Amino acid sequence: MILGMLGSAAKESVSREVLLRAGERLERAGARFDLVDLAVEFPHPHALEDYDDPPPGSQTAQVRARVAGSVAVLLATPVYHGSYSALLKNALDHLTGEAFAGRPVGLIAAGGGPRGAGSACDQLRTVVRALGGWSTPTQVATTAADLAPGEPLRFLEERLDDLVAELLAFVRTAAGPVPGPVPGPVPGLVHGPVPGPVPGPVHGPVPGLFPGAVPGSVPRPVAGGPFPVLS
Ligand SMILES: Cc1cc2nc3c(=O)[nH]c(=O)nc-3n(C[C@H](O)[C@H](O)[C@H](O)COP(=O)(O)O)c2cc1C
Repeated sequence: MILGMLGSAAKESVSREVLLRAGERLERAGARFDLVDLAVEFPHPHALEDYDDPPPGSQTAQVRARVAGSVAVLLATPVYHGSYSALLKNALDHLTGEAFAGRPVGLIAAGGGPRGAGSACDQLRTVVRALGGWSTPTQVATTAADLAPGEPLRFLEERLDDLVAELLAFVRTAAGPVPGPVPGPVPGLVHGPVPGPVPGPVHGPVPGLFPGAVPGSVPRPVAGGPFPVLS
């Protein structure tokens, strides 16, 4: 199951729309997609007293169970004041520091303007790292204007394709341990035998590498004349 965590409480949310489009792609590829609407399912502040030993049924236990049941995660957030939403951070604060271990994490952010969303994704990368996850290189930093049909939407769709492809590639690799010894060299890893070190002594400095240091080379004039200390 791939878990989509939605950090927007807006009724007509851009980040929700984009997350759903990512989810559709995942399902078309044969994955199960599970969207968690954090504003509806986990609206309460995280309880610090539950952190070490969450009581069964508590919000902390439930958030952790949802993440534990996933093989990959998508985080979707609105941009609020140049960052990701408190709703999403609150959900992430329920988790332990290894909650995302072994999981790829895709990032989606929607801002009012074109610039803030990239910054929110970058900040989420730090949080994902703290939780042991692997942020995918592709992120979808977007704005409502990208949902209008035409070139921006096509570009958005392309980035979603890339994001989903990266998530799935990671999941497939992580899920498929190589049985037994690897049969022979990995094709394409090394082209032919690795050239060994040059035998015998190195014959002097490489000409042209440090022109001034090669014996017999003409010293270059120093701009401004000789240094007093050296003359
Ligand atoms: C409190 C608040 C702060 C915001 N700050 C920013 C901001 O710093 N940069 C930005 O591009 N958009 C900002 N916005 C606009 C939202 O990011 C934008 O409406 C976006 O569509 C919200 O995502 P959503 O539709 O998924 O809820 C802000 C909106 C609110 C309500």
